[in-house]
Amino acid sequence: MVLRSHALLSPKLHFRVLEFRVYTEETVFCFNSLTMAEDGVPPLDNLTLSDTVEEAAFSQRVPIRSILCRPDAGAGLAGQTLKVGGWVKKGREQGRGSFAFLELNDGSCPANLQLIIYADVAPLGQFTPTGTCLHVEGVLQMPPEDKQGKQSIELKVSKVLEVGTVDPAKYPLPKTQLTLEFLRDYVHLRPRTNTISAIARIRNALAYATHTFFQKHGFLYVHTPIITTSDCEGAGEMFQVTTLLNEAEKKAIKNPPASQEDVDLAKSVVKEKGEIVAKLKSDKAGKPEITAAVAELTKAKENLSMVEERFKPKDGKLDYGKDFFARQAFLTVSGQLQVETFACALSSVYTFGPTFRAEPSHTSRHLAEFWMVEPEIAFADIEDDMKCAEAYVRFLCQWLLDNCLDDMEFIADKFDKKAIERLKMVASTNFVRLSYTEAITILEEAVSKGQKFEHKVEWGIDLASEHEKYLTEIKFESPVIVYNYPKGIKAFYMKVNPDKKTVAAMDVLVPKVGELIGGSQREENYEVIKERILEMGLPLEPYEWYLDLRRYGTVKHSGFGLGFERMILFATGIDNIRDVIPFPRYPGRADL
Ligand code: 4AD
Ligand code: MG
Repeated sequence: MVLRSHALLSPKLHFRVLEFRVYTEETVFCFNSLTMAEDGVPPLDNLTLSDTVEEAAFSQRVPIRSILCRPDAGAGLAGQTLKVGGWVKKGREQGRGSFAFLELNDGSCPANLQLIIYADVAPLGQFTPTGTCLHVEGVLQMPPEDKQGKQSIELKVSKVLEVGTVDPAKYPLPKTQLTLEFLRDYVHLRPRTNTISAIARIRNALAYATHTFFQKHGFLYVHTPIITTSDCEGAGEMFQVTTLLNEAEKKAIKNPPASQEDVDLAKSVVKEKGEIVAKLKSDKAGKPEITAAVAELTKAKENLSMVEERFKPKDGKLDYGKDFFARQAFLTVSGQLQVETFACALSSVYTFGPTFRAEPSHTSRHLAEFWMVEPEIAFADIEDDMKCAEAYVRFLCQWLLDNCLDDMEFIADKFDKKAIERLKMVASTNFVRLSYTEAITILEEAVSKGQKFEHKVEWGIDLASEHEKYLTEIKFESPVIVYNYPKGIKAFYMKVNPDKKTVAAMDVLVPKVGELIGGSQREENYEVIKERILEMGLPLEPYEWYLDLRRYGTVKHSGFGLGFERMILFATGIDNIRDVIPFPRYPGRADL
């Protein structure tokens, strides 16, 4: 058993995280308890263990975490009768079918609880297939002496309350090791795997840490809209939201477009009817006969013009005045512009929500739907912004070390041996800061010394991921903040620096991932920002409300956006962003 303690100091109170870990061959048991003491010393009675466990709130089971993740790995609970529920990871019949061992996982921690069930309780065959759901009652007992290395405690099942059976011949996720790529075809079942459930807990911890960090620093959480009428980044990568296409489809069903054959046929009918009229006239036929034939010809001509109308290609313009919002609307690419309205009134705010980008990007770093954390701070310049970004990322890393070590150890073991070391390094070191111009000089020097890059290095380029990798993984082996980018490659809202060539933008680059954060000081000068919008070829009308923030009571302010999935990639070392979001959306794929 290893006993460790981390001290997290806050100005008023001292927090101390006590962490006990018991390592066994296959399983990791852990226990974290957050205690508070005025003098920074944990009270000793905190180490006393209760000999009872509580049921999960609103659920008829005891969470497996509260049994296995105690300092004594559950030993002190022997003799307790309780209910657990979960899904079988592994099951095997033993003693010539007289009993079975089942490893049960309920998602509350990476560890499985071992169940032992005897054949006189229920027929065993239905319980052993992987994926079977079980809700059982039983008594916790210490396994026999010679088995105690593997299991600290096991549950002897006395009653099976519910079973959700599985046909092992059909279950798509059998025991064998499955690749993350394979699992993407089963997004509805993959949460049952060790890896996806560990990532889900890490993701949850990072979300909790995010709110903790900003709330702790007095930021107000603002919900910005998902449907928007302004393009924040001005990059035209927005998904459109419209009900007009459905209307157009309904119309098309009633009045389908005409083909060339339809037009030819209608023309031939007109020709034929015309010839009949001509013939009747030359034969000096009676008036009623000619009038009837002319009426037929008129009808045929009308039909022809209708068919030709349906055949004509449309000019492609939809009347958005008739659309749901009476104007063009989109899914947001960032909550920044809207959250700025609250920063310019409530000072320190943040938004955390889904954002959407219709970039046809197939890389392992891009999603069409991803989550972004965006603080926005009034009375703050680019320096304050960089400080906030660095403190936030370091806080997230320390949080995972303090609260999610069991999951991080599992992930590190499977995917990236350096993951935990990286978290420790980031939590404890200052980020390197470089101006864009300095970064280009470093890259040019590297090229002159033989470093090969696919993309040319020169002042004015947007840094490619190979350049970001060089800076963070080779040159500095640390997160790097690059600031003061050329204005030509950045968005219209960034503050123009006195040199008029660069803007007060900053990107946080990290090893493995590249760009984790993009942010800037915002242009607060009305004339300058208006000019920038026009210079970028953007229409002024959708930004009039944004300009109002500069017209009335303008304020120096700054903010940034952290790509939440990129943070998970960075923390875990998982290679593909599609595996760290529960339901990945990317070109060609939006399952469920
Ligand atoms: O650099 P970006 O485009 O910045 C903004 O959207 C600003 N409006 C944020 C702000 O200042 N409030 O995006 C911010 C971050 C990137 O650094 C990256 O981590 C992530 O969002 N990101 C993506 N993550 C996954 N898939 C994509 N397609 C992403 N595009 C950006
Ligand atoms: Mg960016």
